[in-house]
Amino acid sequence: MTLRRMATAGLLAAVVAATLGAVAASAGGPRPPATRDQSLRALAARSGLYFGTAVDAAAYADTAEPQYRSMVDGQFSTVTAENAMKWESLEPTRGTYNWASADAFVAAAERNHQQVRGHVLAWYSQLPGWLSTGIQDGSIDGPALRALLRKHITDVVTHFRGRIWQWDVVNEAVSDPWETPSAIHLGGNTGSLKQKFADLLGPDYLADAFRWARAADPKALLFYNDYNIEAFGDGGPGDKTQFVYDLVRKLRAQGVPIDGVGSQGHLSTQYGNYDVLAVAETLQRFTDLGLAVAFTEVDARSLTKNASDPAAAAAGQDLNARDQASAYNYHVLLQACLMNRHCLSFTVWGFTDKHSWIPGWFKNPPEGSGCLWDANYQPKKSLRTVQGDLFMGGPPRVAQKPRR
Ligand code: XIL
Repeated sequence: MTLRRMATAGLLAAVVAATLGAVAASAGGPRPPATRDQSLRALAARSGLYFGTAVDAAAYADTAEPQYRSMVDGQFSTVTAENAMKWESLEPTRGTYNWASADAFVAAAERNHQQVRGHVLAWYSQLPGWLSTGIQDGSIDGPALRALLRKHITDVVTHFRGRIWQWDVVNEAVSDPWETPSAIHLGGNTGSLKQKFADLLGPDYLADAFRWARAADPKALLFYNDYNIEAFGDGGPGDKTQFVYDLVRKLRAQGVPIDGVGSQGHLSTQYGNYDVLAVAETLQRFTDLGLAVAFTEVDARSLTKNASDPAAAAAGQDLNARDQASAYNYHVLLQACLMNRHCLSFTVWGFTDKHSWIPGWFKNPPEGSGCLWDANYQPKKSLRTVQGDLFMGGPPRVAQKPRR
């Protein structure tokens, strides 16, 4: 191309761009804010998806840190209480409920026009001390635990009736392949609280839990929620996704009122990445059962030497690669969700590395840096990736599932 032709081509491109810009501005009114400046809730709404976060009640109430609250209020269209609705929070003393924190959380969500995911009803973890001690020392037997669980579900679901969009009715009921025995089963390691909880209640407790929840709030969508069920494995005895699939298929076949499966989505870059289509196909198999699906606790952490300062420690260990791997993990789950119109919501388990459960939980080896914003509330590649994916997410989806 000659210099002259290049100049002409450049001029032509400029004229075309200017004309298109003028047409877009006059036809569509004022130009929308740049994609990077749009909230996740606004971008997700383009495709009819709800975008959520877990909310740390202490950070939300901290007047010294107004940014946390303003981002919860402004960025998200659904919220989950990180701890405030757990049994240990609601009934720390046997027979005495403490609703204050959970009530404040739900009221704030309603002020902000956010849908609430209720988390969590039947779970072996974060039980009040009086209950876990009783299970461990045998002073609470099977029938007693069943009666306590029935009362707990009935009281809590009734308390919030009409105000909860999705309830995590049963959480993490099945074992992991690295536990003993290694074949996936209801419960966990032999002798663990997880196993005792399952054994005392017996295999029918899931069906009962869903029925009790449905009786207390007929409108709320009722979910089974678990981690490491993003994709099917080999279908054998160590395949947790297959076990959960068989479990919920059986519940549906028995007419148990279960509406959805929540895939937590706690990922770590040390384990490599999922395949987008493998995740999409997994969601599809669940929704083919007539169930809705949701990603309920997404984060994508990385190994760090110093978990209290993940960014600094990782800088010497190829931070860029970790950042990109984390972003890709978000992308895989979000794209799979957007590919399925029965994927109702995509919730992250905290949005800033400043208030994330990761460094406190994954210590050996130390992990961190799993959120969309860093510890100084600065956007990370994962945030920009998610914003781009939402922008490209296509027209609003009309969810048809769950089928009731
Ligand atoms: C975590 C919270 O984020 C922590 O603050 C708490 O100390 C432990 O629990 N799966 C779940 C969540 O269903 O409730 C857990 O939340 C994370 C794993």
